[in-house]
This record gives sequence, C-alpha cells and structure tokens, in this order.
Amino acid sequence: MNEVIKINNITKSYGNVLAVNDLSFKVKKGELFSFLGINGAGKSTTIKIIVGELFPDHGEIKVCGKDIRTDEDEIKRKIGVVFQDSLLDKTLSVYDNLKYRAALYGITGEEFKERYKRLSKIFSLEDICNRKVNTLSGGQRRRVDIARALIHNPEILILDEPTTGLDPGTRNSIWKIINNLRKKENLTVFLTTHYMEEADDSDYIVILDKGHVIGEGSPLELKNKYAKDMVIIYNVKEEDIKKLKMTYHKIRNGFKIEVNSISIVTDLIVKHKDIFKDYEVIKGRMDDVFLSATGYELEEK
Ligand SMILES: Nc1ncnc2c1ncn2[C@@H]1O[C@H](COP(=O)(O)OP(=O)(O)O)[C@@H](O)[C@H]1O
Ligand SMILES: [Mg+2]
Repeated sequence: MNEVIKINNITKSYGNVLAVNDLSFKVKKGELFSFLGINGAGKSTTIKIIVGELFPDHGEIKVCGKDIRTDEDEIKRKIGVVFQDSLLDKTLSVYDNLKYRAALYGITGEEFKERYKRLSKIFSLEDICNRKVNTLSGGQRRRVDIARALIHNPEILILDEPTTGLDPGTRNSIWKIINNLRKKENLTVFLTTHYMEEADDSDYIVILDKGHVIGEGSPLELKNKYAKDMVIIYNVKEEDIKKLKMTYHKIRNGFKIEVNSISIVTDLIVKHKDIFKDYEVIKGRMDDVFLSATGYELEEK
C-alpha cells in the first residue's frame, strides 16, 4: 500500500463559510508531507476530516485503503494526531495523561508500562514523568503531546503546527526526534507549519488556499516552478556587471541578478570568467515559493 491517505474532491462548509473546496491530494507511505497555507486556508479542517472528527459535505477519504464511514475504529488506530490546540489534561501528570490515552486503545498494565518506558526515553520524559502538565514549558508540553499521539503505535503521525511559538533550539530538538522516528519506523508524517525551512525538508508539499490546492510537488519542483534563482557577484565594478547584459540590483559589496534557471548562471560564468571571481549562486527558497504561489507574505508568529 503506497498511498496511506487519499483525498478525493472533498468539500466542507461551516454554515456559509466554505472551509475546504473540492480538495484532492495523496500522501505516500513513509514520506514527510507538508500541508501549507495561510491561517484560514483550511488545513485544520482537512485534518479533522482525515481523522474522522468532522464529516465532509462531499467527497471521499481513504486512509490505508479504508473508508472512515465504515472503518472508523481501524483508521483511528492507524493515525496519531497532535492538534493545533493541545489535548493534554493540564491538571494531570505526564504519566497519567499517557496512561488514560493508552487505556482508550485497550493498552493497560505491563503493555502500557513497556510503551511508556520506550516513549519516555525517546522524548526525554523521565525527569518530568510526575509533573503536572500545567507546570511544563511549551517545548516539554509539545514532547508530551507527540508522545501521547504515538502511544498506540500509529503508522501515520499528523502534526498541526507542532513547532509554532517554540524557540529555534526546542524546534530543532523536536525535529531530531521526529526524524529519528521516521528513519527507524518508516512513520509517515503529515505536517502543517508556518516555518518554510521545515517544509523544505519534506518529500512532498501541497499548498492550500481558500480550501483548494494551488500548488504541489517536491520542494525542488516547487522552487523551479515558483521561485527565481539568483547569483550574487562580489568585488566587481558596475561597468563590468553591465557587460553581462542582465537586469541587476546593487547590494552591499556586490550585485544581485535574478534568473529563471541556474543554467543561465552557468552560461554567464563560462562566458565571463573574468567577472565571476567571487560569487554565490542561490537557489530560490521555499519562502519565495509560498509568496509567489499564494501571493501572501507569511505572517510573523
Ligand atoms: N468551527 C468552526 N466554525 C465556523 N468556521 C470555522 C470553524 N473552524 C474553522 N472555520 C473557518 O474555516 C476556515 C478554515 O479554517 P481552518 O481549517 O482552521 O484553517 P487553517 O487551519 O488553515 O488556519 C476559516 O475561514 C475558519 O474561520
Ligand atoms: Mg489551523
């Protein structure tokens, strides 16, 4: 089974707000899949539909080949989800949060203890095991959120903005854990994020706007399609730059030239070796892809 999530033409409205509009996409087993879009694009609604919390008005969803309408229990066992708003009980300890969650899947006694031990090692929960969730830092809470989502050994982990609001060091440590799990267990990770450098590491990206797909592909495909590449040439006179017969922008210590493809830079370098003594070639970034595909700047979080 190569496709673990298959969405066909789903639509969902809240009253007269059309949140998801004829949406179709696929997620393959083992991939890191990023679902991008500005606030209100319909990401969280789609996730709630995938996990069976909401029903679409139209369309079809298959998770590991199963239909949510007939195999809800089975699908819920295959998916672990971390919603945008944490579902932890803040008045309970870390241990009890995981224990009660596990019990919902019939995991109790020694079996639970084994799983808790394993997850607490992966997520470094040993020292905070007996702390109430409301005494934890944001990063610690997120680690508990993700451990809770994995307590029943799902095949697919859905993370709705898992790192929003966390400092770069904490974000890094959470990503290290996720990447390790992906490597070791071939876990499929479905991610929504506002951080384009996180999306840049994904295998496949779907960009959503007003509930509809407006762009999709690997990061490289999207960059080639939506973002301009550039070359910056340093320590060169403006009269020499003019010889390249390209539109340029003056920047500190040099000149910037935007191009539609890197091969144009290669041609320039070959023809003008004398001008290209100190330079850097920069591939379009995911930020540029997002801006160019959606027309929106990303909001500062
Ligand atoms: N429970 C709800 N009731 C009414 N409108 C909602 C509800 N949840 C979301 N919406 C609206 O649906 C649209 C999509 O929201 P959402 O799926 O949360 O987007 P995202 O997660 O991409 O920010 C937005 O216009 C939002 O205001
Ligand atoms: Mg959301």
